[in-house]
Amino acid sequence: MPDASARSSRVLFVCLGNICRSPAAEGVMRHTVAARDVTDRIDIDSAGTAGYHEGAAADARMRRAARARGYDLTSRARAVRDDDFTRFDLIVAMDRSNQRDLRARADRLGVDAAHVVLLSSFLDADAPVDCPDPYYGGAEGFETVLDLVERGCPAIVDQLLAADA
Ligand code: 4NP
Repeated sequence: MPDASARSSRVLFVCLGNICRSPAAEGVMRHTVAARDVTDRIDIDSAGTAGYHEGAAADARMRRAARARGYDLTSRARAVRDDDFTRFDLIVAMDRSNQRDLRARADRLGVDAAHVVLLSSFLDADAPVDCPDPYYGGAEGFETVLDLVERGCPAIVDQLLAADA
């Protein structure tokens, strides 16, 4: 039974285009919260620092790789908005370039950016600091993205639930 008295948290995954890495993270995170029966306690979204692909479905290669592992990617691309910085409790950047862009924008807006963290901050020290952009590479890049987000999502759920306990 979901605990109706618990508050909910909001997490936003951010990459550059919002068609490969952050949709994968969003899809894996939805699956992870459902498996732990905490769907009501964690709101999940994704966005891109760039708006090149506004409204587009996730890249077909990313969707195919995700589907093979049991994840359905249904998000539509959108650019990060100014109010995302205050609406979300946690903003997870897929690489340092995304994190830099987000923090610079938060600075310009005069809002706190302490909650803009890297995916790799939820991973063991042997993981790469950046979740590599698979867009211009081969099929293995999409598998690497899924490997990293599958490793990170359980720890993200743990942190969000602990913060709201
Ligand atoms: P993403 O990958 O940031 O993981 O969604 C990319 C998608 C599109 C482009 C770059 C990266 N692009 O240059 O169009």
